Amino acid sequence: MATRKKSSSSAHVHLQKISVEHTFPVVFTRHLFSPGNLVLRKALTRIPSTNRHRALVLIDKGVRTAFPELPQHIRAYFKAHAEVLHLVRTPLTLVGGESIKQSTAPVQRIIDALRAGNICRHSYCVAVGGGAFLDAAGLAAALFHRGVRLIRIPTTALAQCDSGVGVKNAINYAGAKNLLGTFAPPSAVLNDSAFLESLPLPLLLDGIAESVKVAAIKDVAFFRALERGAPKIARGNLPTIQRLLKRCALLHLDHIATSGDPFEQGAARPLDYGHWAAHKLESMSKHRLSHGHAVAIGIALDALYAGCLGLMPEAQVRRLIDTLRTCGLPVFAPELAQTDRRGRLTVLDGLEDFRAHLGGDLTVTFPAPLGARIELHEIDNTLMSDCIAALGEWE
Ligand SMILES: NC(=O)c1ccc[n+]([C@@H]2O[C@H](COP(=O)([O-])OP(=O)(O)OC[C@H]3O[C@@H](n4cnc5c(N)ncnc54)[C@H](O)[C@@H]3O)[C@@H](O)[C@H]2O)c1
Ligand SMILES: [Zn+2]
Repeated sequence: MATRKKSSSSAHVHLQKISVEHTFPVVFTRHLFSPGNLVLRKALTRIPSTNRHRALVLIDKGVRTAFPELPQHIRAYFKAHAEVLHLVRTPLTLVGGESIKQSTAPVQRIIDALRAGNICRHSYCVAVGGGAFLDAAGLAAALFHRGVRLIRIPTTALAQCDSGVGVKNAINYAGAKNLLGTFAPPSAVLNDSAFLESLPLPLLLDGIAESVKVAAIKDVAFFRALERGAPKIARGNLPTIQRLLKRCALLHLDHIATSGDPFEQGAARPLDYGHWAAHKLESMSKHRLSHGHAVAIGIALDALYAGCLGLMPEAQVRRLIDTLRTCGLPVFAPELAQTDRRGRLTVLDGLEDFRAHLGGDLTVTFPAPLGARIELHEIDNTLMSDCIAALGEWE
């Protein structure tokens, strides 16, 4: 619908409004590539076509190492459904983890493979991997032909509950986290719980950190479930972890669908609670700290700050930090105490980076109280420094 307004000056302003609805299935399944499992077939054939549905499959090397027969299983799946599906080449494996986001070369390599496979805007890029892998593959798919269809198959806890179900992708650039990226909703997200079985406990805990994050600002009942489940989580109990990850994914999806700002055009980023410090700590530690572990520290710190401001009762701050620690997540790292030549804590630069990323006023989300949230536009650096010191001495 177009509206026409006559302004007070001589200019005519034509105000164009465009509404685009995005619908994509997010499926929780098991053994996705078993020929009898129709989830992938349905995702690839959801939009009818007179031709076979073409797909290029990309695999995170870490996943391939854990599941060496995965490429054969994928080929067999496409063969079993050959009347409607066509695999354009043998699955392509690339090194995943944060290194895939550290330069533009892997994105270019994926684009070359999409081109060689004649992937068009009606065919699919299917990416199987962790959050970093999906971020890089997602960027390539969004750029190629201005965007080809992407099916995400997240294989880590964090990707299944958070990054893989969202609408963003990115790679790092010039030392800045997620500097180059797009908003591009996927065609489908297919979570296969069997992929979680090969994950070491720290990678499972990364997803739990994001779950505590979203629970703390959105759902106190979910927080209680995490609190109760913490001892089992620490033992790597998969049924408990899977249940909690699914709940986290659904909360994320609900936020994207109902927040009114799925493409983050406003200043508020509730799902980035704890992330100003987390992103800084990740780069300061040269990615020794994983995203999820850095998030655990970031949300502990900001909960403490919220407590100091009286936004959250002290008992709740303690419960949040204790839950993270009982799960086996860190709430402190030596990088937090690192200072520059003037004695200023380096991590506080993360607030400036965050402000620059938002592109305007600083807006930082805090739990206030547990299960609800508040946005603050100014941070008292002295108080934040005191909180960092207090976190270092947390018992
Ligand atoms: N796009 C978003 O909205 C969004 C949101 C949150 C986080 N992220 C990004 O996600 C990334 C972190 O993702 P992550 O936590 O999934 O870690 P990751 O992608 O860095 O993967 C960690 C390691 O696990 C390996 N791996 C993946 N699946 C495996 C499996 N099933 N078994 C064994 N090894 C496996 C990978 O090869 C890698 O070596 C960060 O770059 C972060 O910025 C993006
Ligand atoms: Zn995160």
